[in-house]
Amino acid sequence: MCSGLRTFNARTKDPRRSFTMLNWLNLLLLLCFANHCGTSAISVSGKKGGNITLSCESESREISDISLISRSKNIPVCQTEECSGRVFKQGNCDVFIKNLSFSDAGKYFMRVYYHNNQTELERLIRTYQLHIQDEISVKTGEELKLDVLLSNADKVQHQSRRSTEWMKDWSRTDGDQSERITISDGNLIISNFTARDTGTYRVLDPDGEILITVTVRESKYPSTESKKKLDSTDKDKTDETMQVPVIYWIMSAGLLVYAALLVSTLVTLTIQKHTDF
Ligand SMILES: *[C@@H]1O[C@H](CO)[C@@H](O)[C@H](O)[C@H]1NC(C)=O
Ligand SMILES: *[C@@H]1O[C@H](CO)[C@@H](O)[C@H](O)[C@H]1NC(C)=O
Ligand SMILES: *[C@@H]1O[C@H](CO)[C@@H](O)[C@H](O)[C@H]1NC(C)=O
Ligand SMILES: *[C@@H]1O[C@H](CO)[C@@H](O)[C@H](O)[C@H]1NC(C)=O
Repeated sequence: MCSGLRTFNARTKDPRRSFTMLNWLNLLLLLCFANHCGTSAISVSGKKGGNITLSCESESREISDISLISRSKNIPVCQTEECSGRVFKQGNCDVFIKNLSFSDAGKYFMRVYYHNNQTELERLIRTYQLHIQDEISVKTGEELKLDVLLSNADKVQHQSRRSTEWMKDWSRTDGDQSERITISDGNLIISNFTARDTGTYRVLDPDGEILITVTVRESKYPSTESKKKLDSTDKDKTDETMQVPVIYWIMSAGLLVYAALLVSTLVTLTIQKHTDF
C-alpha cells in the first residue's frame, strides 16, 4: 500500500478537494506508520554478479527526476546505460543495477517526480527489499569465508541440508556462536569445513528481512579458485604439448651452437699451438 503512495501537491483547483486529499494523505501516512510502512516493500532477488531492475511501474512520460536512497545514502542514478556507474535509469523510470554485490542488499526507497496531465509535479514513492543470492563450494578441511557482515546485517543463520531449523551462527548483539567461527573485516570465517557446514546461510537485517542467502556445497576440488587454476593448467597442458617441439628445437640449436663454439675454440687453440712451434 505505502509503496504506491502518491503525494499530491496542494495546487489543486478546488480548495475543498485539496483539503480532503490532504486529509486522505494524512490518514494514509498514519496507517503507514501503524503498519510499519517498510514491511510492505517490494521484494526483489538477484544473484551476486548479476543484474536487477527496480521497476517503478509508472506510465507517466514526463519524469523529471528519480532519486534512490539506501541506508540513508543517496545513490546516484545515471540517466543512460552508457555511464560508467552500476546504477542507471532504464526505460521510463525503472532503475537497473548491474554486477550486484552482497553490499547492495537492503532496503531501497525510490522517489519518482513527474508531471501529470495538468503539468503539476507529483511524487511516487516505492520501497524495495533487495535480496542477494550466491552459491559456493568448499572442500573439507578448508575455511568457509562469507563476506556478508554488512553494516545492516544483524544475524547470520545456518540451515543444514537435512534440517528445517535455523541455527544462529552470529548476531550483532551476541557475536559468533562457535569456537570455529572468527570475524574479520566483515567476513564470517568458519574453520575446518565439514559436511555438517553445508546447506544454506542467510543474513537478516534488524527487522528480520533477508539480505543475503548463500548456498554452500561440499566440493571435490580444493576450492573454486583452485578449481579455476586446475582448469587453466589443463588448458596450459595442451599448450605445452604444442610448445614442446619448439623448446626441443631451441635447446638442440643451442647445444649445436655451443658444440660448434667448443670445436672452433679447440681448433683455434690447436692451430695456435702448431704455429707457436
Ligand atoms: C548484466 O548487464 C550487463 C550490461 O547491461 C550485461 O552485459 C550482462 O550480460 C548482464 N548479466 C547478466 C547475468 O544478465
Ligand atoms: C563486478 O564487481 C566486482 C566487485 O564487486 C569486480 O571485482 C568485478 O570486476 C566486476 N565485474 C564487472 C564485469 O564489472
Ligand atoms: C491523462 O492522460 C491520459 C492519456 O494521455 C488519460 O488516459 C488520462 O485519463 C489522463 N488523466 C487525467 C487525470 O486527466
Ligand atoms: C578438522 O576436523 C576433523 C574432523 O572433525 C578433525 O579430525 C581434525 O583434527 C580437524 N582439524 C583441525 C585443524 O582442527
